[in-house]
Parts: sequence; structure tokens; C-alpha cells
Amino acid sequence: MSEAEQRWASVDDLLIRSLVDEDDALRQARADSKAAGLPSIEVTANQGALLSLFVRMVGGRRVLELGTLGGYSTIWLARGVGPTGRVVTLELEPKHAQVAQANLNRAGFGDNVEIILGPAADSLDGLVAAGTEPFDLVFLDADKQNNARYLRAALDLTHPGSVIIVDNVVRGGALATVEGDSDDRVRSTRDLLSLVHDEPRLTATAIQTVGAKGWDGFLLALVS
Ligand code: SAH
Ligand code: DHB
Ligand code: MG
Repeated sequence: MSEAEQRWASVDDLLIRSLVDEDDALRQARADSKAAGLPSIEVTANQGALLSLFVRMVGGRRVLELGTLGGYSTIWLARGVGPTGRVVTLELEPKHAQVAQANLNRAGFGDNVEIILGPAADSLDGLVAAGTEPFDLVFLDADKQNNARYLRAALDLTHPGSVIIVDNVVRGGALATVEGDSDDRVRSTRDLLSLVHDEPRLTATAIQTVGAKGWDGFLLALVS
């Protein structure tokens, strides 16, 4: 880690210690995911708290997540929708889903969260085909290459006033570099930005962030 990165991480530590109530269920979810060999790429606690606040700010009762990993962000989203709300989360890897289910059960969300196993594109097709009740907030955090497709599906699964959040749209700043041209994830992110911009139903912005996960950023879009 560079000196700058260490400072970003220290500031995150301080912000989290000062403001964010990461309780045992969340800490344990992180620890068990790591112990099970899952990559430590979950949102930070302050980002998780932000997701939870976004859900509450839109009065969200139904949330859709793509990319469950060990269920860390899922717990934050489930806290946002409250005890009568619902989170549907899509995950490709059976092992991730299994770890997530245990973490969600321990956090008390065994009944509020549904993990759908399989490629998110197929699961989304299934949700659309089933005429699923629209979601109030969608969090895109699975494989970045397919984000354009996921965004189109998200538009079919939301209503005016819903919010769509895309994680990791900056990822080290490669977006604006020449070397980014050869990176699939960077190119798909640029395509995603054009798609969002050209979509009349979306009003969006994106914000760069620094912190414990380095230099990154998220996109926030309002559906109308
Ligand atoms: N939202 C999580 C982190 C997700 S990491 C958190 O912040 O806690 C990205 C996840 O997307 C990984 O678990 C990975 O297995 C999953 N994933 C990758 N490709 C996928 C696909 N095609 N469909 C569904 N999930 C996928
Ligand atoms: C990485 C980070 C993420 O937040 C994510 O969803 C996927 C991958 C990463 O740093 O590789
Ligand atoms: Mg992410």
C-alpha cells in the first residue's frame, strides 16, 4: 500500500469507528467470509451504511442486489428495508451463496432475504418473466462486464422513483487511461456510462471515492 492508500484506509477506520455501528453480525459475516476463502472485496462498513441510508431515503421495501458474495452488503440492505421488507440477491457461486446464507441467518434475515443462485443474467430474465413486483432500489455489484445488460434488466424491474446504484465504476482510475482501453471491465464501464446517459428514464451522476478499498467510485441513478 502506498502512503496515500494507507492514509485513505486510516481515515476510513476513523469514520467507521466514529459513526458506523458495525455490530457482531456484520463483523462475523466479514470474518467468516474470509475464513471460508472468499475474496475480501465486500463494501466497507461506511459504504454499507450508505447503502442502508439510501434504501431508507427512498422508503425502500424491496431491494434487488446483484453479487451477494458473503452477504455483507446484503445485511446492510436488509437493515435498510426493515423487518417487513425484502431483499432478493443474485449470486453465481454456490459456495458464496452458502456462506452468505449462514451469515444472513445469523444476522436475523433468514426469512427476509432470498438468494437466487446462478448467472445473474438468467436470474434477472426469470424475475422479469415472473412479473416480479418492482424493486425500490437495485445494487449492481456482480461481474462488471455485464453491467449494461444488468442495467437494462434493472429498468424492467423498477418503477419511477426507484434508485439504481452501481459499485466499482472507477476502480483505480483506469476509466480515463489508455491502458484502460484493453481492460474489459473498464470498457464495459464506459459503455455503461453512455447507456445511462442516453436512457431518458435515468438521471444519474457518479462519484469518485478513496478509502480502505483504494480509489473507486459509484454511480447513482434515479428512475423516472
Ligand atoms: N456485494 C458484495 C460483493 C460482491 S463481489 C458485498 O459488497 O458484500 C461480486 C460477486 O458477484 C461475487 O460473489 C461473484 O461470485 C458474483 N458474480 C460474479 N459473476 C456473477 C454472475 N454472472 N452472476 C451472479 N453473480 C456473479
Ligand atoms: C473488486 C471490488 C469490488 O467491490 C467488487 O464488487 C468486485 C471486485 C476488486 O477490487 O477486485
Ligand atoms: Mg463491489
